[in-house]
Amino acid sequence: MSDDTLFARVKEEAHRSNPYPLFAALRECPVSRQEDGTYVAATHAAIASLLHDPRVSSETLPPADRPKTGNPFKDWLVKPVRDHITDTHRPFIFRDPPDHDTLRAAVMHQFTHQRVQAMRARSHVLVDEILNKLGDARSIDIVDDLAYPLPVTVICELLGVPPEDEEQFHGWATQLATALEPDTHQDDELRAENSRTFDAISEYMQGLIAQKRKAPQDDMLSGLATEGTDGAPRMSDFDLIATAILMLVAGHETTVNLITNGMLTLLRHPEELRRLREDPSRAPRVVEELLRFEPPVQFRTRKALCPITHGGVTIPESAPLVLLLAAGNRDPEVYAEPERFDPDRTDNRHLGFGGSLHYCVGAPLARFEVEAALVALVRRLKNPRLTADPPPYRQGSALRGPKHLRLTIDGIDP
Ligand code: HEM
Repeated sequence: MSDDTLFARVKEEAHRSNPYPLFAALRECPVSRQEDGTYVAATHAAIASLLHDPRVSSETLPPADRPKTGNPFKDWLVKPVRDHITDTHRPFIFRDPPDHDTLRAAVMHQFTHQRVQAMRARSHVLVDEILNKLGDARSIDIVDDLAYPLPVTVICELLGVPPEDEEQFHGWATQLATALEPDTHQDDELRAENSRTFDAISEYMQGLIAQKRKAPQDDMLSGLATEGTDGAPRMSDFDLIATAILMLVAGHETTVNLITNGMLTLLRHPEELRRLREDPSRAPRVVEELLRFEPPVQFRTRKALCPITHGGVTIPESAPLVLLLAAGNRDPEVYAEPERFDPDRTDNRHLGFGGSLHYCVGAPLARFEVEAALVALVRRLKNPRLTADPPPYRQGSALRGPKHLRLTIDGIDP
């Protein structure tokens, strides 16, 4: 019988800087039952199999229950309607086929090769602009100064959000990222704050969608607001709002964390930092290895639609199921020397972008953004040194990454 408190410990802040010994212990059982009734899949084979299993559902959000306002009109008339709308128009990361597939196809249709390539070139320009603004600074916080602003700007430009409105997206993105943490659903205060943020961003999006319908431009939101895909009708306003918010939430903190985890890992492996500086064409393999070694999305939660038996363990119907992607990424059955950061691996089948139906739609974009950031950082920062190792981490255990990554530098090259 394995230790059934391991996953609870993964969520404790004390283990945030290095959860990997706990993952190794969890891997001893491909699927284990934890004391709170959650089942955890921790080996690469178990995770890959459950990611592809149609008996496993992504519809894990509890029913909507917005906090009461004290105003009887709002609480008894408006609230039930809004709760119903929220329940029936969830973002597609929390939906199963067929609805998931229809919504995802519409987004993929807008994620054209040209748009992604344009954002690739743009990412290099944006990174340079951000670094130029720092002038002759002698210290830099990789999170606040670079990793944080970059992905919001990229998503806003991709969606077609006017630049002057970008600033408020930063706050919204940070607040809503907490919705991807499993324990948020039990925290009433956090749920209430998320609900207020959701209302604010929804109202903003509604106005923007109306503008795009009137005067479409060459951006994703205009495309989604005006076109249907493969004969399907165009998305409803509610689904469109949920989708736009999903892009912001799914594409923001994940990318921040990969840039930051990336710089931290390179500073801990100076030889790899030097090699990347001397040969920027190594960036794609560095990024792929980072997605294995320090993945921003450490785990995702699912639900069993019926009893599922895996490796002698039966996951009961409706039981919460955690797919511990970051543990699968260091499975010695799949990787030689899994605890070693080695961008030259030849068979890197990492789970950093998930797999199967819900595989990350923003993967190509995220890769380009992170490549642009890391290449510029290693080339332009003079003699970067960590001020604290490990750095302070954000609270989240599902989306894991440093809160700040402060470096001392001797200047920034042009
Ligand atoms: C390094 C950055 C990123 C990482 C590590 C990452 C990781 C992931 C992972 C693991 C999933 C699978 C979720 C699941 O199975 O439940 C996912 C899904 C998703 N990602 Fe990303 N992501 C990143 C960047 C982005 C960006 C830039 C965007 C959009 C602009 C994006 C949009 C999405 C969406 C919409 C989904 C849901 C796909 C679906 O349910 O079919 N992601 N991402």
